[in-house]
Amino acid sequence: MTKFLIANWKANPTAPHDAVKLLRATARAVGRRRKVTVVVTPPTIYLEAFWGIIKKEKLPIKLGAQDLFWEKSGPYTGQITAPMLRTLGVSCCLVGHSERRAVGETDEQINKKIKAALAARITPILLVGEQEKNDAIRQDILVDQLTRDLEGVSSKDASRIMYAFEPAWAISTTSGNKAESLDNIIAGIAMMKDIICRFFKLRPANAKLSFLYGASVNGENVADILSRKELSGAVVGGASLRAEEFKKMIEITSTKS
Ligand code: PGA
Repeated sequence: MTKFLIANWKANPTAPHDAVKLLRATARAVGRRRKVTVVVTPPTIYLEAFWGIIKKEKLPIKLGAQDLFWEKSGPYTGQITAPMLRTLGVSCCLVGHSERRAVGETDEQINKKIKAALAARITPILLVGEQEKNDAIRQDILVDQLTRDLEGVSSKDASRIMYAFEPAWAISTTSGNKAESLDNIIAGIAMMKDIICRFFKLRPANAKLSFLYGASVNGENVADILSRKELSGAVVGGASLRAEEFKKMIEITSTKS
């Protein structure tokens, strides 16, 4: 089994040549390693050039998108649709990231995006989690997000989605933030599994669901986090922009499968 590192570059880097440099450095770090799958999700504007480079240089990188629009095409100024992303080699897409929820994306929109991605054969990476730190993980928040975001998705598509537990309060962008504790990560994943299995009426023992953790995963904690069998990988923001640190994370991850 391979483990996934989803490199969420967010709105970085600003210059195209820096972006290409980072793509190549990331690919070199993967090299011939088979037990780690690295998905680079750059700003949309870099996708076309990246897809050209990946194909030409046969780089061991999968391409992801940070967002998509739910209609296929038409009068939607500023939008990028799932079939368009598909033509640029995109195989998965973040949906419901807390930074998008924070600028007004609703669960209803997230739900439409998941369906549009599935229809275009793009794997949606659905991100859920609490905005604020609480004493214990708030199951009600996970239930609310997951049931609204997955409404109307058929149970046969349950395993075509990757589910990420990403508490917004732990994201490294705010300095001083730290990852959720390992115990709470595992508890959060167990809650999500339970909620999703009930929702799709799946038996937990047979359900083939993939779970990721995101928020402040870095060179220091990736070994502990990804040694847990409950996790298929991690969503990495800040550390995926630091080539040396991300290289170390790729090496560590390839030994954790
Ligand atoms: P971080 O970001 O790794 O910098 O905390 C993760 C994310 O926002 O996806």
